[in-house]
Amino acid sequence: MAGKYLIVANWKMNPASFPEAKKLFTAIKKTASASTKYKIILTPPALYLEMLAKSYRGKAIAFGAQNVHWEDTGSYTGEISALMAKRAGASYVLVGHAERRHLGESNDDTRKKVAAVVRSKMTPILCIGESERDERGHYLLHVREQLRIGLQEIGKADVKKVAVAYEPVWAIGQEDAMDAHEMHQMSLYIRKVLLEHFGQAASSIPILYGGSVNESAELAILYDSEVQGLVLGRASADAKTFTTLMKSIAEHTKK
Ligand code: PGA
Repeated sequence: MAGKYLIVANWKMNPASFPEAKKLFTAIKKTASASTKYKIILTPPALYLEMLAKSYRGKAIAFGAQNVHWEDTGSYTGEISALMAKRAGASYVLVGHAERRHLGESNDDTRKKVAAVVRSKMTPILCIGESERDERGHYLLHVREQLRIGLQEIGKADVKKVAVAYEPVWAIGQEDAMDAHEMHQMSLYIRKVLLEHFGQAASSIPILYGGSVNESAELAILYDSEVQGLVLGRASADAKTFTTLMKSIAEHTKK
């Protein structure tokens, strides 16, 4: 697929203070402008989003929220809406990240969130992935179901506005990423399911990989599988690791 790699820098609940966030952001800005091969999507904690987005004038970084509610306003203590995230400077939203699903987020919640994000004119990155694998392939049905329900309210006309991140729960927060060959097979499976649902329009949906991406894994995955980008967790919250990773993507990938 043509176009730039999408690299999601998902800071999660890091760093602990805004001055630290600004410092980390300075390193990310430098990295972002160093290559045209990738576009960085920064998803900082919601409290930092607006300040970082407002301070940035370039084009190499887009901003995203880590989670939103599907209603625009209302009695939802502790939540922020897709509309608020949009107004704070976001153009992407992670929906259904494994760490949110672990807290109880259901496929039905992701369906409503994906629809709200598209309605607010942003791109949802629907996160999917099984907790464990089994020999009979039930995990494939699990992934299929997450895709089917999460994208249920998306019509063919809007399909170009979504992205999918495959992040197997068993690979998040571990030492090693998934094997590149297995990711290749999984990306073909995801593409097949998307094509079944949306027809040819689904051929342009970016499929990303996330889960313990480190220096040795990232190149193999970008080279050997059909993925259009990566979601970096811990590696994006450390300036040195992130810079090294992005440098090797710039130097070694084929784009
Ligand atoms: P990790 O997180 O890179 O720290 O494993 C990835 C993610 O949860 O998106």
